[in-house]
Amino acid sequence: MAETLILPQTTERQEIYDSLLPQLQALTEGEPDLTANLANIAAALKEAFGFFWVGFYLKKGNQLVLGPFQGPIACTRIHFDKGVCGASYSRKETILVPDVEQFPGHIACSSSSKSEVVVPVFDPAGEVAMVLDVDSDRLDDFSEVDARSLEQIAALITTLL
Ligand code: SME
Repeated sequence: MAETLILPQTTERQEIYDSLLPQLQALTEGEPDLTANLANIAAALKEAFGFFWVGFYLKKGNQLVLGPFQGPIACTRIHFDKGVCGASYSRKETILVPDVEQFPGHIACSSSSKSEVVVPVFDPAGEVAMVLDVDSDRLDDFSEVDARSLEQIAALITTLL
């Protein structure tokens, strides 16, 4: 496909996700390089929603290590028992955090980050291969719409592993 996103003129996130998902499918189809695909998915989410930070932490050994992302520089390594990312990895579930200051152990890569959603990405065997972390500079910026739609994107990534 052409490397241009076509986005609906709306602020309704569900509509934007609905438009984005098939475009991400087309963008990654037939491309075997995981780094390239994750980089484009992070860029597409940033372009579509203007999130403060969007990126991946990949399981490498006994840590999560920073992968492709869009936004300010971030922490490079996260232990499985640390932060929202570590919690999502360990619990194997999506975590919505309306106010990061209320999440025990939250890792503040940036003081501008106010709310966050982290989604696990499973490998075909059902193990967590990485997490997708999306941060906002606004409090309570994420809802079930984001959680469920980002899970659909995570499911797409599973097919690329
Ligand atoms: N806040 C995350 C760390 C990653 S950065 O926000 C990019 C956490 O608590 O896991």
